[in-house]
Amino acid sequence: MKIKIGSSILELVQGDITQQDTDAIVNAANRTLLGGGGVDGAIHRTAGPELLAECRTLGGCDTGDAVITRGYKLKARYVIHTVGPVYRGPSPNAERLLKSAYQRSMEVAMAKGIRSVAFPAISTGSYGYPLKDASYVALLTIIDFLWNYSEIKLVRFVLFNQRALEAFETSLKRLNPAES
Ligand code: APR
Repeated sequence: MKIKIGSSILELVQGDITQQDTDAIVNAANRTLLGGGGVDGAIHRTAGPELLAECRTLGGCDTGDAVITRGYKLKARYVIHTVGPVYRGPSPNAERLLKSAYQRSMEVAMAKGIRSVAFPAISTGSYGYPLKDASYVALLTIIDFLWNYSEIKLVRFVLFNQRALEAFETSLKRLNPAES
């Protein structure tokens, strides 16, 4: 599914974020930035040990913030590491932090002159954020950002399975009825 927002494209695909050839891919990291499972593990495995070596120099990342490194052996030139909230039930704070993770990732990308970014479904795995709510927050944040800043020309959400893809498609239709 793909929609135009001004001169930018927002698209939803099912796939593996480590295989994306966008300028940057976003890592669903933890605050230590020292690797983990899920997306984090896959990105570090594919990028190689130099990624961890660079991460070690960054001194961690707060929840809701984002930092950037090189991509090393990945197709993507950069990795933007962001930390989503651990979900402990519906709360304005969890929603605020998830929104911030997407917002800060886009700000970091724009500051680097990045034109295309691939996101995973942040916080919806180990961190337990329900896909339905997380996809709505993610898409609302990115759509708002793209209406305000046209420098980033492509944002691709890379969903790992059909259930996640369908959750994002449902949220996108809610947010962009013209496309339904
Ligand atoms: N490509 C795209 N999406 C993926 C991939 C992949 N290769 N691997 C997993 N996913 C999906 C999961 O199915 C989930 O929908 O990414 C989403 C986020 O899941 P996690 O990777 O578990 O990330 P998160 O929920 O944000 O938890 C972060 O997990 O791996 C650790 O170090 C990480 O402590 C941190 C925590």
